[in-house]
Amino acid sequence: MSHPFPVSKNVSAMKASSTLKAAQAAATLREQGHDVVDLTVGEPDFETPAFIKEYAVEGLQKGLTKYTPSSGFNSFREAVASFYQHRFGAEFSPVEVAAACGGKQALFNAACTILDPGDDLLIPKPYWVTFPEIGTFCRANNVFIETERSDFVLTADEVARSITDKTKLLILNSPNNPTGRVIPPAEMLKIVEVCAERNVYVLTDECYLFFTYDPAEPFSLAVLPPELRSYVCVAGSFSKTYAMTGWRIGYTIANEEWTKAMVKLQSHSATHPTSFVQYACAKALNDPEASIAAVNSMLDEYKRRREFLIPALNSIPGFKCAIPEGAFYAFVDVRDLLGEKYKTSADVADAMLSEAFTVVTDGAGFGAEGFLRFSYATSLENLHRAIDRLGSLFADSSVGAA
Ligand SMILES: Cc1ncc(COP(=O)(O)O)c(C=O)c1O
Repeated sequence: MSHPFPVSKNVSAMKASSTLKAAQAAATLREQGHDVVDLTVGEPDFETPAFIKEYAVEGLQKGLTKYTPSSGFNSFREAVASFYQHRFGAEFSPVEVAAACGGKQALFNAACTILDPGDDLLIPKPYWVTFPEIGTFCRANNVFIETERSDFVLTADEVARSITDKTKLLILNSPNNPTGRVIPPAEMLKIVEVCAERNVYVLTDECYLFFTYDPAEPFSLAVLPPELRSYVCVAGSFSKTYAMTGWRIGYTIANEEWTKAMVKLQSHSATHPTSFVQYACAKALNDPEASIAAVNSMLDEYKRRREFLIPALNSIPGFKCAIPEGAFYAFVDVRDLLGEKYKTSADVADAMLSEAFTVVTDGAGFGAEGFLRFSYATSLENLHRAIDRLGSLFADSSVGAA
C-alpha cells in the first residue's frame, strides 16, 4: 500500500497472540519436512461427540437457517439454565443467559459492557493471553495480581489488597490456562464476597470447568445466591468441554441488566452464534447424562496423559512442575536452567524447537517469564516422543549454570 493504514489506537495497542506465534513456528518447521512434536495446542484432540453432530444436522434439516434472537434461541437459554440446575443445583432464570460465539466473545461482551476508559481491571498472573488485550481494547488499566507466593492459586487476601476506588472488574479463570491450577470453591466464594463488599464485579472464565482431576470437582460461580451472583458474570464455552472449538459457541450467565447490555452490544456485532449450532447445543444440554458421559471419557484420557507427563517432566534436569488440578496444561518452571546459555525461558523454548523439534509456549506471554506451558491435548505417543527428546537435550544441563 502506498500510504500507511491508520489502524485505530484501540487495536494498535493490542498485542498479537503469543500462543499463536508458537503454533506458527511449529507449522513452519513441519512445512520444511521436520518431524515436529507440537505441545502448543490449546484445543482438544478429540472429535465432537457424534450425538451433537447429529443434532446439528437435525437442526439444519428442520430449516433452522435463519436469524435467531441476538440473545440466542429461548430454547438455548432454557437449556443452559436447566443443565446448570441439574449439574450444580444452580438457580437462575433463562433471561440471565445469553448465547455468544465462543467463550472469547462471551468475555469480550462482558468486559466491554462494564469497563469504561480509566477503570482498573484486575488480572491475576499468570493469565490467559487475551485478558489484558480485552482490557487494553476497552482502554481500562490492566492491574496485575501476583500469585506465585500462593503457588499460582489466587487468594481473597491478594484480591482485597489489590482493590482500589478505581477497580471495576476482576477476571477469574479456574481451572487456569496456563497453570492448570484450581482455586478451591471456598476461596472462590471469599473472593466474590471481598469484591461485592467493595462494589467490584467478577468475570469468571469457566471454559475448563469440567476438566478437573480428583479430588478437585467442577465448581461454577453460577451457584451463588442471587445477591452475590448479581456481581458475577460467568463466561462459559462448548469449545473445550465438548471438543467443539470450530463451532464457535459459548454463553454468559449474568444479572438481567448486564445480560441486556451484552445482548445490545452483540446485536450490533456478531448478532448471535449459528442457529443450528445453538439448536444442537440445547439438545445436548437437555440430555445431561449423554453430555456428561462424553466429557468424562475425554477427562479419563487427559488423566492418563497427566499421570505420565508430570513425573516425566520432573525427571528432566532443571524442570519443575506442580501437579495441575484441572485443564490440560502443565506449567513448568525452568528458572534453574537460566544462566549463561539460556538467558530467558524463551531461549529454552527456542532450543527445544531448533534442537529437539518440540514446540511449547513460553510463559512470558502469560506474564510468567521463567516458565513454559506444555499442552497435553495431544496423544500419549506424542508426549512420550517429547519427553524422550527433551530428556536427551537437557541430560547434560548443569542446573543453575547451563
Ligand atoms: C482461558 C480461556 N478462555 C477462553 C478461551 C476461548 O475459547 P473459545 O472462544 O473457543 O470458547 C480459551 C481458549 O483457548 C481459553 O484458554
